[in-house]
Amino acid sequence: MGTVYLILKTIVAVLSCVKSSALSSSQGNLVVRCNESEKSALVKFREDCSNSMDRFSSWITEEDCCNWRGVMCSNKTGQWHVTMLDLRCHGPAESSQGDQVSDSLLDLPYLSYLDLSSNNFLQGQVPEFIGSLKNLEYLNLSNANFRGMIPDHLGNLSQLQYLDLSGNEYALRANKLEWLHGLSSLKVLELGGVDLSLVVNWLDAVNMLPSLVKLGFFACELNTLPLRPSAMNFTQLQILDLSFNKFNSPMPYWVFNISQSLSYINLSSNNLGGKLPDFSSKLNLSVLDMSKNSFVDPLPHFSLSMMSLILAENMITGTISPICESLVVNNSLSYLDLSLNALSGSIPDCWTRGNNLVVLNLAYNDISGMIPNSTGHLVHLKALILGINVLSGELPASLKYLTNYMSWILDTIIYLAKYQNGLGKIWEI
Ligand SMILES: *[C@@H]1O[C@H](CO)[C@@H](O)[C@H](O)[C@H]1NC(C)=O
Ligand SMILES: *[C@@H]1O[C@H](CO)[C@@H](O)[C@H](O)[C@H]1NC(C)=O
Ligand SMILES: *[C@@H]1O[C@H](CO)[C@@H](O)[C@H](O)[C@H]1NC(C)=O
Ligand SMILES: *[C@@H]1O[C@H](CO)[C@@H](O)[C@H](O)[C@H]1NC(C)=O
Ligand SMILES: *[C@@H]1O[C@H](CO)[C@@H](O)[C@H](O)[C@H]1NC(C)=O
Ligand SMILES: *[C@@H]1O[C@H](CO)[C@@H](O)[C@H](O)[C@H]1NC(C)=O
Ligand SMILES: *[C@@H]1O[C@H](CO)[C@@H](O)[C@H](O)[C@H]1NC(C)=O
Ligand SMILES: *[C@@H]1O[C@H](CO)[C@@H](O)[C@H](O)[C@H]1NC(C)=O
Ligand SMILES: *[C@@H]1O[C@H](CO)[C@@H](O)[C@H](O)[C@H]1NC(C)=O
Ligand SMILES: *[C@@H]1O[C@H](CO)[C@@H](O)[C@H](O)[C@H]1NC(C)=O
Repeated sequence: MGTVYLILKTIVAVLSCVKSSALSSSQGNLVVRCNESEKSALVKFREDCSNSMDRFSSWITEEDCCNWRGVMCSNKTGQWHVTMLDLRCHGPAESSQGDQVSDSLLDLPYLSYLDLSSNNFLQGQVPEFIGSLKNLEYLNLSNANFRGMIPDHLGNLSQLQYLDLSGNEYALRANKLEWLHGLSSLKVLELGGVDLSLVVNWLDAVNMLPSLVKLGFFACELNTLPLRPSAMNFTQLQILDLSFNKFNSPMPYWVFNISQSLSYINLSSNNLGGKLPDFSSKLNLSVLDMSKNSFVDPLPHFSLSMMSLILAENMITGTISPICESLVVNNSLSYLDLSLNALSGSIPDCWTRGNNLVVLNLAYNDISGMIPNSTGHLVHLKALILGINVLSGELPASLKYLTNYMSWILDTIIYLAKYQNGLGKIWEI
């Protein structure tokens, strides 16, 4: 049964690729816009890729190359030029292989958008010549099986706004990041999975990027999170992902203070400790993930704009009651995970205004007492996970009246029944 399903799925996937390329090649344009020398460059690029079946099926030499799938042209300069090459692979039928990126790209001098992500470059190097594509604003080489050192030449791309080198199987490296200084327009920098363990002062290097909106340094083997950096330049930063690194220090508070627009912080899976700061101030944070660290102190006060709060797998002590303060009218909290900590006391009876909560996970703590009646106000709840605590009494009748309880009843039963507390009757349908 499973195999049949898989085969069917594959057929559908292949068919849909063929169909979409056939469609795009039929949309002809009477005026030929394609520039001949750029067409030759594209043809050369296609020849240097092997194993690409579907991908280039619309690249018919007799047709206007500006209609080829993945190619876009623009006449912003008064002449038509290829400005965009989107060869992102969306499935196995499309995957291009080549041990290196063809340098025929150099004959596309007006290229501003280059996406070669999710192809297989067979552990080739990121080529230095990409740094000569001076008009690039978007460069995506993620998940493409590159290895070796990131060339400094990328620092010549002064127009670049998006750079994604993530997901290259931990085989890409950089020993310094000074070349980033040349990328003063950069908004999004994704280096997840790039080995940066030998980089000294990574923070100083990214601090030279005042337009940065997203910094993705996930699993980069970083081992220092400076306690007190010099003045911060990140006035635009919204997303900060430093998860899965090797910080082994107290939590530096400046991280929460680098920009008023910061809305997402992920520091999960590091070894950060010390006190959690007071978040109740004007911080505009909506997602905070500090799970899998070594925080031991009681819960701090939280920001009212918080949507997801994930502090699982620490050793946080004290009670859950500080959460009640953020459950005011119009609060946005929808995902709260405090599991695998050392929280004690009882579950506070303050959920009347937690009406946006979808997931409440308090499992694996030392929480005692009864489940309060006000949990019945959590009308959007899909999972209430309370296993491995020392709760007692019965489930409050109010829980039964949740309008959509059928959708979460399974989770509830699994997590309450399997991992029994001292609870009496589990559920009556
Ligand atoms: C074609 O583009 C190249 C640069 O890519 C340019 O040098 C050449 O003048 C263009 N040819 C025409 C006919 O526009
Ligand atoms: C670009 O091409 C369009 C349509 O062919 C034309 O209307 C427009 O004037 C051209 N722009 C420039 C700057 O040449
Ligand atoms: C790069 O491409 C991948 C898919 O291959 C995509 O998930 C990712 O969002 C892209 N990165 C950027 C910065 O657009
Ligand atoms: C590009 O960067 C490299 C290394 O940083 C440098 O050696 C080279 O001169 C630069 N090329 C141009 C055209 O600026
Ligand atoms: C902030 O960025 C600017 C421009 O990139 C740079 O000149 C300056 O040194 C940076 N400031 C700090 C404190 O790093
Ligand atoms: C955050 O920055 C403000 C000023 O910009 C400063 O007064 C405050 O002490 C800082 N807070 C932390 C936790 O560093
Ligand atoms: C806070 O976040 C919201 C939405 O995420 C945004 O509209 C608002 O401008 C932000 N406020 C500040 C001061 O950055
Ligand atoms: C934080 O990062 C971890 C590891 O990279 C990931 O598994 C988790 O989903 C992220 N958390 C959020 C809230 O995005
Ligand atoms: C809550 O939101 C509603 C609708 O967005 C708004 O009318 C009301 O004034 C808000 N209440 C408070 C206390 O902010
Ligand atoms: C819940 O409500 C019932 C009836 O109103 C009451 O008997 C019971 O003590 C309440 N339980 C808790 C934990 O407050």
